[in-house]
Amino acid sequence: MNLTFRQLTIFEAVARHLSFTKAAEELHLTQPAVSMQIKQLEQATGVPLFELLGKRVYLTEAGQELQRYSRSITLLLAEAEQVFEEMRGLKRGRLNITVASTANYFVPRLWAAFRKRHPDVSVSLDVTNRAGLIRALGENQADLVIMGMPPEGLDLVAEGFMPNPLVVIAPPSHPLATATQVPLEWLQGEAFLMREQGSGTRSLMERVFAEKGLTPTTPIEMSGTEAIKQGVEAGLGLALLSVHTLEMELALKRLVVLNVEGFPVLREWYIVHRSGKRLSTVAQAFHDFILKETEELVHVPQV
Ligand code: PGA
Repeated sequence: MNLTFRQLTIFEAVARHLSFTKAAEELHLTQPAVSMQIKQLEQATGVPLFELLGKRVYLTEAGQELQRYSRSITLLLAEAEQVFEEMRGLKRGRLNITVASTANYFVPRLWAAFRKRHPDVSVSLDVTNRAGLIRALGENQADLVIMGMPPEGLDLVAEGFMPNPLVVIAPPSHPLATATQVPLEWLQGEAFLMREQGSGTRSLMERVFAEKGLTPTTPIEMSGTEAIKQGVEAGLGLALLSVHTLEMELALKRLVVLNVEGFPVLREWYIVHRSGKRLSTVAQAFHDFILKETEELVHVPQV
């Protein structure tokens, strides 16, 4: 059967309006052009599709059949168009990710690998502490969030994708640096640097210290991981940090991990989004990429 999609579109309009004139108006065609296309369609199918009784147009039985088929064809084409639109979305889409400041030590690497596969995708990467992450989730500002410990009370989908060991660090010159085993009570007299209020690392540190019955002497508060590392290097005190933030300092031996009893404390990194959120094609692709490829791309420093 030799018919065109254009003829089907015209047929569909005439069948819907049961009027050649209205179909012509809708499609911005002349009425003879519409009649001509329908005539050709009737030649192609070999059966009459409309009949004219008085001044009214009716669908023949064959016309009703064709109307059913043309509806299915139109729906399928619309579906295909949507698929292509989504594919274009992955090609040129944009992603909003919010990550914990501690996760920012490896997320750019993952993003770079993802971008190699999808070079036209762009990202807005917001880096903040745990309190900021919870706000971003609550206000639905981020497509995806990467964090240490998903909060309770929000309706979230959280999937763990990599271990996140937390360790106690010191400068190499510290007296405990060479000890093969540091009992917890030895930390009792030590000064500790701690992150700002709202940091997940800080609340973990407070919890761990409370559980183990430790009260750090003269805790010094500093905002941000970089400030903490500089402070520890300068000999201001010890600190508890995720090993992911320490790759360079450990390699350069500017900082050391103490062999403290009960450490490392093992947590996990999570990729999180609000349940019910419709992830865009790009967000879904990056989400799947993180779950599948992180192990290959990010090395967890052994401590
Ligand atoms: P933060 O990140 O210490 O920068 O808040 C860690 C986390 O999400 O737990």
